[in-house]
Amino acid sequence: MIIEPRMRGFICLTAHPAGCAQNVKNQIEYVKSKGKINGAKKVLVIGASTGFGLASRITSAFGCDAATIGVFFEKEPAPGKTATPGWYNTAAFEIEAEKAGLYAKSINGDAFSDEIKQQTIDLIKKDLGQVDLVIYSLASPVRMHPKTGVLHRSTLKPIGAKFTNKTVDFHTGVVSDVSIEPATQEDIDNTVVVMGGEDWSMWMEAMKNAGVLAEGAMTVAYSYIGPEVTEAVYRKGTIGRAKDHLEATAFEITNDLKEINGKAYVSVNKALVTQASSAIPVVPLYMSLLFKIMKKDNSHEGCIEQMERLFSDRLFNGSEIPTDDKGRIRIDDWEMRQQYQDEIAELWKSISTETLTNNGDLEEYRNGFLNLFGFGFKEIDYTKDTNEMVMIPSIK
Ligand code: NAD
Ligand code: NA
Repeated sequence: MIIEPRMRGFICLTAHPAGCAQNVKNQIEYVKSKGKINGAKKVLVIGASTGFGLASRITSAFGCDAATIGVFFEKEPAPGKTATPGWYNTAAFEIEAEKAGLYAKSINGDAFSDEIKQQTIDLIKKDLGQVDLVIYSLASPVRMHPKTGVLHRSTLKPIGAKFTNKTVDFHTGVVSDVSIEPATQEDIDNTVVVMGGEDWSMWMEAMKNAGVLAEGAMTVAYSYIGPEVTEAVYRKGTIGRAKDHLEATAFEITNDLKEINGKAYVSVNKALVTQASSAIPVVPLYMSLLFKIMKKDNSHEGCIEQMERLFSDRLFNGSEIPTDDKGRIRIDDWEMRQQYQDEIAELWKSISTETLTNNGDLEEYRNGFLNLFGFGFKEIDYTKDTNEMVMIPSIK
């Protein structure tokens, strides 16, 4: 079929298999160009099909020569209907891993469930014995709690007061005010259940009890802090409470993993275009200003540059892992540079539909968004008939 982008609101309903494969290949080439990392050899990535999780898997495999198992929740293709991007990304990843002689298998299902945890543990036992690194990179709007059966929904709301700020519709470039009513206690609690650390600790406990964590195993989950302009809706909002919980959970997990000398970290990453972040109000406008400034200064990174730096400069730098005063790894260090943040705060005051063209890089944002779905790659001929029925080798 001929596959074109079909947008609905903040999502794209189609994905291009060849474009997704191109995206994966570009990321692999980047990691290879940076040289080998003396890091983990057997890695489980939970949330491995897109965004930071996919980049973590690619860095593990092509930077550290690691065997990888990836867990994710994606939709497979049907005749005339494309799969979700993470499906095609993983198909391409497994094909490239196989060519490079690297073990790679994947599990598609709800990572919050006991069943998928058990299936993953069984696969580790059968094929790898144990893993030495677990990356936890889930981003989901809902979580079915495995013990109660209750379906919890996360929200993106301020806490305590209504929040009004500027936002952009990145499809049209129109800047307008957005107002969000404050969260109820129930909203806060639900968001913490979905995006907090409970599921991460459930994974680690189940794995420890099953004996599939190697001596000295490490686990890393991802967080975000961000600037003042998004603070009310992000770090001090419902999602921020979930990130506070996630960050606190790292210490609990480290404590639980004492017997095996294990350690849990949270890495604070840069704001980047992913399916999860494009739905957050105000954030895309901030990103379009940030990207312009960082590109001009040659410090702009995407998911793969961030993850390669996380692995080579932080996790496996041959020495101690540097953290901030709260024990967090910071690879948002470049984003948070005072001069960038001051410049953004200044531009923010007068940002409008008219001034955004000059002061922001909406094009970079839009391209980044299209790239998520395999569109906008110069190497791909989008007028060509394309087979949508691309399968993931290990899932068949
Ligand atoms: P993403 O949407 O690109 O990836 C989410 C992954 O989770 C996918 O692999 C998806 O298949 C998987 N997933 C979702 N629900 C699942 C389920 N029920 N079972 C199994 N797999 C499931 O998201 P991302 O932006 O890469 O986010 C990953 C983490 O990084 C999140 O914790 C996010 O808060 C954090 N983070 C994101 C940003 C950003 O700007 N995007 C910045 C800093 C930190
Ligand atoms: Na991810």
